[in-house]
Amino acid sequence: MKEVKHGNIYDAIGGFETIERLVTSFYKRVGKHPDLIPIFPEDLTETARKQKLFLTQFFGGPRLYEQDRGHPMLRRRHLPFPITPTRRDAWLHCMKEALKEAEIEEPYQTVIYEKLTLTANHMMNRLD
Ligand code: HEM
Repeated sequence: MKEVKHGNIYDAIGGFETIERLVTSFYKRVGKHPDLIPIFPEDLTETARKQKLFLTQFFGGPRLYEQDRGHPMLRRRHLPFPITPTRRDAWLHCMKEALKEAEIEEPYQTVIYEKLTLTANHMMNRLD
């Protein structure tokens, strides 16, 4: 049975193709950011794959991440990595630039950035 959904961000921004553009642009930046390089794997292929699945469901699309990885438990999955306020800022900076490069239109660019800011705050687990 086809699920009919109204008013989710995922459909409004153009679905999976747009998520792919955003995530590709995001990890290109993460891979070059001096504050982030130390905690991310050198090869970001698998990280990007998981993030595409996660952001799809986070923005109201199909529950792809859960199907692949189970319950997100994002804070717990991030505990092995020292996420300081500086790293949160770096992550959000990469995301802001990626949202622009992926040409996500307003008001979605702002809505997405604010939603991700809340989650990023929740991921902090160390002081600088
Ligand atoms: C606040 C700054 C953040 C930092 C520094 C950070 C860092 C990381 C690192 C180092 C990994 C592991 C990469 C790997 O092993 O492949 C990871 C995984 C992940 N992150 Fe973050 N992250 C941050 C915020 C976020 C936010 C805000 C979200 C969601 C909106 C998010 C979603 C994910 C997901 C879905 C994964 C993959 C988890 C899995 O293994 O299934 N992260 N992150």
